[in-house]
Order: sequence, then structure tokens, then C-alpha cells
Amino acid sequence: MKTRAAVLWGLHQDWKVEEIELDPPKTGEILVKWEAAGLCHSDEHLVTGDMVVPEEIREAAGLPPSFPIIGGHEGAGVVLEVGPGVTTLKEGDHIAASFFPACGRCRYCVTGHTNLCDLGAGTFGRGQISDGTDRHHIGDQGIAILAKLGTFAEHGVISEMSAIKVDPDLPMTAVALVSCGVTTGFGSAVHRAEVQPGETVVVVGIGGVGINAVQGARIAGARNIVAVDPIELKRETAMSLGATHTASSMAEAMPIVTDLTSGQMADSVILTPGVLYGDLLGQALSLTGKGGTTVVTAIAPMTQAQADINLFELAMWQKEVRGVIFGAGNPRFDIPNLLALYQSGQLKLDELITRTYTLDEINEGYQAMRDGKNIRGVIVNK
Ligand SMILES: NC(=O)c1ccc[n+]([C@@H]2O[C@H](COP(=O)([O-])OP(=O)(O)OC[C@H]3O[C@@H](n4cnc5c(N)ncnc54)[C@H](O)[C@@H]3O)[C@@H](O)[C@H]2O)c1
Ligand SMILES: [Zn+2]
Ligand SMILES: [Zn+2]
Repeated sequence: MKTRAAVLWGLHQDWKVEEIELDPPKTGEILVKWEAAGLCHSDEHLVTGDMVVPEEIREAAGLPPSFPIIGGHEGAGVVLEVGPGVTTLKEGDHIAASFFPACGRCRYCVTGHTNLCDLGAGTFGRGQISDGTDRHHIGDQGIAILAKLGTFAEHGVISEMSAIKVDPDLPMTAVALVSCGVTTGFGSAVHRAEVQPGETVVVVGIGGVGINAVQGARIAGARNIVAVDPIELKRETAMSLGATHTASSMAEAMPIVTDLTSGQMADSVILTPGVLYGDLLGQALSLTGKGGTTVVTAIAPMTQAQADINLFELAMWQKEVRGVIFGAGNPRFDIPNLLALYQSGQLKLDELITRTYTLDEINEGYQAMRDGKNIRGVIVNK
């Protein structure tokens, strides 16, 4: 069938919305009509090259080129058709995209860490999970899909392992947000920082991910939640969703956290800025108290290998640095669970959507993200 998708043809270019050819689903695959897709910062890392395997490494490994690629990994849609052998979904089901599939059989899946499923190794590779071939084409050319999803499209074919069935009464925009940013931010606080009642938490960077670390810390019972962001709108939104204090930089947060904790400093600092650079880790560790945890959620350029941290303090103050992907949980449990928290009114999602866009307005949406105007922009297909 023919459909439309936002395609990136190379680094530092705009997304180009164009007609593509979509093959029917093969074994284990589903055809999805994408209803909503969130504009997460991770897709921007494709544009800047932070999250693109360098071409010389690809060529040396004999891998196909990264571009053209259909972006989008935060998404919600309806199943239009199922391929042979699909057992967990049927036509008409509503789904959240899962940017890590879960095979259910690897070491990580069977030990309750489906966010680390071995199939995630293929995230930046070409083709479908089933057989490595493309379903998305323009003319003779196959097109890659980000995270085996490519939600910046009207329709797509994905593996059933990348789709999580959700309650059909839920608004698609809320489902789309939970498919990455909410699960990641909430899990950074609840699963990775393991926030306990009464603790002091600092969240650095209040975008679609960080605002949900604020909400996670609030729901977990933190006493002090310090939201750090240079942009006023972000700080105001954080205050309305659970933050107790704000600062425009980590340096400005130092005296606030010192005062709030009588010098003990934060139990956890969660790093969710748009891009992680090495100098931010040292600053975050300085805000972290004895026995505390610094959680690294934001994505750094793939080749960033330097961080300036005080190694003496790391050991002597028994601090911990913890990376986190997809909220360190089990999306097949966490996504429906977070949506139930939304339905009960405890997790706010509608308030996170600053603006919706049509697929054709995607570049406008990303410009607003770069300019710090959106908590989250969401593409809604008619
Ligand atoms: N680990 C994961 O599984 C995972 C999943 C999704 C997204 N991410 C990453 O999380 C990060 C945040 O994503 P997002 O979509 O919320 O981004 P966003 O662009 O919507 O928000 C980032 C926020 O950080 C603020 N900021 C930038 N530099 C800062 C600094 N030095 N100090 C304080 N605030 C700063 C910006 O003003 C902005 O409000 C990105 O790097 C994204 O790729 C990681
Ligand atoms: Zn994301
Ligand atoms: Zn697995």
C-alpha cells in the first residue's frame, strides 16, 4: 500500500514528508495505523549525528547505510492487519510502541529486565526483526525505521514484539507519551534512583522525559524535588506537577540543595537534559550526597568518552552512577501501569502536551523543541 512518512535523508537535514510504499506484514508482524507520535529528543540525535553509527565504522563492519530513515519511536496506533503467526494482537487493537522489543526468551527478558532485551542490539540496524528485510520503500530503495518502529508516519509495519496492547478508551496522545518519555522519566526516578519517601531529588532538564522524573519522584513520596532548567516555562511546569523548588542551572541549585538538606545534599540527581556532555556528570555528582545516586538518562553523542568527575569523592562518599534505558523496567508491565495511574488522575499526561502538529508540521515541532517552547509536541494524524 501507499502511505506517507517523515524521512531523514542525511545528517543536519529537515525531515521530508513523502509518499512511501509499504509491504504487507510478514510472519510475526503487524500493520499499524499510527494515530499519534511524540517528538522525543532522541530522534533529534539522528539529525545531529549524536546517535548515528559513524559511516566509517558501518562500512568497516559491512553494514548498510543509516539513511534514509523514518524517525519516531514514541507512538500509538491501531492494528489494521496481522501477519501469519501473530498471537498476541488482533485487528482493531490499540497499541503503544515499545522502542525496545521484548523477545521473552533472552537472559534479560526471563530475569525481569525486558528493557534490556537482546533484540535491542538491532535498534540501529536495518530491516525488520523477523528477517532483516525492509517493508518500507521509496521506489527500489529500502528505508530504515528508527528503533524498528518509525512512528513519524501514517502507517507502518512492525514486529508484534514491539507493540504493547493498551485500553482502547485511552486518548492516543497519552498512549504515545507513555510509549517513551513517561516510562523513561518515571522509571529513572522510581526504578533507577529508587526514590523513597522523604528524600531530596534533583531533576536536571525538564523536557518530556525530565517532567516525568519529577512526577515519579512526587508519586514515590520525595520531600524535596528541585527542577533544574534554564527555561522559565519548564521550571513553571515542573512546579505545577510536583517540583518544590527550581533553579536555572546546577550551579544555582547547589546552595538550594545545601540549604534544604543541611549540607547532606541530594539522595539522587537525575540527568535528563537534551544532550549529555561530560562536564554535566561532574556537576551532578557534586549535588549528590553521601551514599547517593546520579542517574544518567540523557543521551550523549555516541563518541563522547570523557567526563570530568572527582574519583576520590566517588569512592569516599560511596556515590553511585547509574545509566538507564527505557526507565529500567518492563515496558509490557510499566506502560499499562502508568496509563492506569493516568486514568486514576495521579499521573498527569494531558498537561505535558504543549502543542499538537500534523505530520507535515514535523519540522516546526522540532524547531519548537530546540527553542525550548514545548514540554512535549505530539504529531496527531487525522
Ligand atoms: N535513556 C533512555 O532510555 C532515553 C529515552 C528517551 C529519551 N532519552 C534522552 O533523554 C534526554 C531528554 O529528552 P527530552 O525528550 O526530554 O528532551 P527535551 O529537549 O524535550 O528536554 C530537554 C530539556 O533540558 C533542558 N536543558 C538542556 N541543557 C540543560 C542543562 N545543562 N541544565 C539543565 N537543563 C538543560 C532544556 O532546556 C530542555 O527543557 C535526551 O537526551 C533524550 O535523547 C533517553
Ligand atoms: Zn524517546
Ligand atoms: Zn529478550
